[in-house]
Amino acid sequence: MSDVVSGAEIDAQPAPKTQPKPHVDADGYAQMYAASVTDPDAFWGEHGQRIDWIKPFTKVKNTSFEPGNIDIRWFEDGTLNAAANCIDRHLATRGDQTAIIWEPDDPNTTESLHITYADLHRSVSKMANVLKGLGVEKGDRVVIYLPMIPEAAYAMLACARIGAIHSIVFAGFSPDALGARINGCDAKLLITADFAPRGGRQTPLKSNADTALAACKDSVQCLVVKRTGGEVTWTDRDHDCNALMEAASDDCPAEEMNAEDPLFILYTSGSTGQPKGVVHTTGGYMVYASMTHQYTFDYHEGDVFWCTADVGWVTGHSYIVYGPLANGATTIMFEGVPTYPDAGRFWEVCAKHKVNQFYTAPTAIRALMGAGNEWVEKHDLSDLRVLGSVGEPINPEAWNWYNEVVGKGNCPIVDTFWQTETGGHMLTPLPGATDLKPGAAQQPFFGVQPVVLEPTSGEIIDGNGVEGVLCMKDSWPGQMRTVWGDHERFEKTYFSDYKGYYFSGDGCRRDEDGDYWITGRVDDVINVSGHRMGTAEVESALVAHAKVAESAVVGYPHDVKGQGIYAYVTLMNGEEPSDALRKELETWVRSEIGPIAKPDLIQWAPGLPKTRSGKIMRRILRKIAEDDFGALGDTSTLADPSVVDDLIANRMNRA
Ligand code: PRX
Repeated sequence: MSDVVSGAEIDAQPAPKTQPKPHVDADGYAQMYAASVTDPDAFWGEHGQRIDWIKPFTKVKNTSFEPGNIDIRWFEDGTLNAAANCIDRHLATRGDQTAIIWEPDDPNTTESLHITYADLHRSVSKMANVLKGLGVEKGDRVVIYLPMIPEAAYAMLACARIGAIHSIVFAGFSPDALGARINGCDAKLLITADFAPRGGRQTPLKSNADTALAACKDSVQCLVVKRTGGEVTWTDRDHDCNALMEAASDDCPAEEMNAEDPLFILYTSGSTGQPKGVVHTTGGYMVYASMTHQYTFDYHEGDVFWCTADVGWVTGHSYIVYGPLANGATTIMFEGVPTYPDAGRFWEVCAKHKVNQFYTAPTAIRALMGAGNEWVEKHDLSDLRVLGSVGEPINPEAWNWYNEVVGKGNCPIVDTFWQTETGGHMLTPLPGATDLKPGAAQQPFFGVQPVVLEPTSGEIIDGNGVEGVLCMKDSWPGQMRTVWGDHERFEKTYFSDYKGYYFSGDGCRRDEDGDYWITGRVDDVINVSGHRMGTAEVESALVAHAKVAESAVVGYPHDVKGQGIYAYVTLMNGEEPSDALRKELETWVRSEIGPIAKPDLIQWAPGLPKTRSGKIMRRILRKIAEDDFGALGDTSTLADPSVVDDLIANRMNRA
């Protein structure tokens, strides 16, 4: 009878799980932080050892924010390979440990996969040999346009293995956006899949890729992964990835790369012009991604880590692939969406794989909060230890729900502020070291020196209880190095408004305790569902439509998305506004940029508020979109103040 469980035992509460001691407490953080900024060379010289170097570095930091000479180098004479750091160095000790758990879009039709470090080594080496076979060499660019499937990680790591530079384009982007990014970095190869299943629907990736490639050089080749096996058209430039990988050797030595050789390019939106290619290099990025992953999430050996982002965004680069794998973690790659097949999917996956750290965006938290607590409560979340938030400010209501309903009050929430440009976390609480405040990103990570500047004068505002724009006084290892092909734009975008500082583009408040609160972008960048978008991009898509004469796009507060897209559109003479035309414009923007850029509200604007010199007064448009037109301020400088009355009368966003 020994294996029969008595009723009393069934009723007994499970023993509390043993919690590892956090890596740092408040004093430990204070000491390490002080060391990181007083002697960066010593600090990063020591922590630079957390990754394996082929040739050890002798120089640590060599950086300049000086106008005209923006030059950022870390560990510049060291050599290493990022893929070897994520895979090979773990083989002896954890070859059989799961590196990646792949969780499919539809759990009812497809099994999840457990890929060990040994499996990962084999697949990445094979894919690397396939790339070589297609003529990809060190320094060449490879664009990756894939669903969230293991091949996306293989492709990233295969590029890193042979020294090729990857540039991932989120699978939700349109053919036009993809084509621009292929041409923007003069890529030799595109890696895509037949279809991308997501939330039960399928995006025709290969067909999008064909359309994109029509606008690219004939020499660009295309490697196609079969995800669904659905029918696609094959052209002369296409290669069957599955067949080539099967035939390829699984032996591919890792290329010796300099610390400052580019690892990847990732396009991101700014306030002006087309998206720019953010360049990250190898050594500093790997040190920073792995260190932030360990400390911010209090990652310990054996933990299962889940970041729900897509690898098409920087969060996926640093916290699905490079950070966790460099630390020998088990990382989850999720193909689906939070609400498919139902609103319990995130929690079902957490329970199924005994997730210890869970990292997602406020927009998802708000959507799931709206779906009701029962979706969370039916799953066993007792393995969760740390919860993370990223991409946009988290409102206290969502924070409290995350804390109480998901974390049962036991899991610190790390609200991580960072950017594509920063490579890893900049401001964040650390579990066990920070007293949490809902909605605050709180404290700088090691080596990060935030300053609050007066927006107009650029003077530093010292002391606490102050507000201004957020800049960084000095470099950190994960910082972007340049804009691909345009170093001048790098300097102009980040170092010219406030000379001698890196300008984040965000506003912030430092409260009485010295904790930082991000107050949102101070430029024309909006944040829709945690996706960053330049309003200028949406405007140029709209005016590319034959019936549109002019357009101005602003953000407005949106309950779930954080910000929604509000477009004012002036039609060409003779064109009549209609609901059908509104739909047509929505579809048009989806096809020009992608579904994430579709305007939520379009207002027909016979005229836009302009100064006498013709500059659109966005401040007024923002206020009308926020339904806050009582606070319009001075409109007397407008060329035609009556335009404003018309816009208010016909506003779309009435409270
Ligand atoms: O405005 C800030 C916001 O997202 C911007 C960066 O967007 P992206 O480069 O796409 O990277 C997103 C993921 C790292 C920032 O300039 N942002 C990011 N994290 C937070 C945030 N705003 C408030 N709180 C955050 N935790």
